[in-house]
Amino acid sequence: MKKLFTKIVSVALIASMMGALASCATKKSLTVNKGKLVMATNAYFPPYEYYEGTKIVGIDAEIAEAVAKKLGLELEIQDVEFDSIIAGVQSNKYDIGMAGMTVTEERKQAVNFSSTYATGIQAIIVAEDSPITDIDTMIGGDYKVGVQTGTTGDIYITDEVGDERVVRFSKGNDAVLALSTGKVDAVVIDNEPAKSFVAANEGLKILETPYAVEDYAMCINKNNTELLNEINKALAELTEDGTIAAIIEKYIPSNG
Ligand code: ARG
Repeated sequence: MKKLFTKIVSVALIASMMGALASCATKKSLTVNKGKLVMATNAYFPPYEYYEGTKIVGIDAEIAEAVAKKLGLELEIQDVEFDSIIAGVQSNKYDIGMAGMTVTEERKQAVNFSSTYATGIQAIIVAEDSPITDIDTMIGGDYKVGVQTGTTGDIYITDEVGDERVVRFSKGNDAVLALSTGKVDAVVIDNEPAKSFVAANEGLKILETPYAVEDYAMCINKNNTELLNEINKALAELTEDGTIAAIIEKYIPSNG
């Protein structure tokens, strides 16, 4: 009897130790660096991410900060080329990519996306006196179109007009600069950054006809479904309590 009891106790002990080990292992695998949430972005995309002095601020930075806090992690933001973000998430260089990133079927083959937290629209910027009046005149004419490399704007426009007429830039604002100096005839970029670039550069305007409506989400390594679930839980709570709406309202005031 005593033997049996000892056996039961030791089995229970081993089972609970294994449980502890397992939870230890899952805690460790939640992020690349223990205690940290490493976010890759491209920080020239106001109001989602941009520099204020040496600090990266914006809608994405603040939402990520709130999510990290819920997960008990310290947020670290890395500013990288936009078209290197997905590969870096795939290779576990970063835990998440968050860069006003559009959810697309093609990207879904490579990474998982969190729930969406914002909507974006592809817009067309031209010079104030441009003969381009809408998307069709832009596509139909022999115009050069500036884009940020690897963005949905790049992908859609290349599809429409072919490689020869697309000029790619590593930052969105470099494309806008090229438009200001007449090196390209139009820029296709997300609506909110477009507004802020047009406000900062004289002689440009956004065409009335928006191009495509998209959902923004964080991307996460396909194997890390635990992090995906934790992030979605945090996003749901932050939506529920109004935090996300307040962050978006702070950067995109609905009455301004
Ligand atoms: N929404 C577009 C895309 O996902 C552009 C995003 C560019 N983001 C940035 N932080 N530069 O392709």
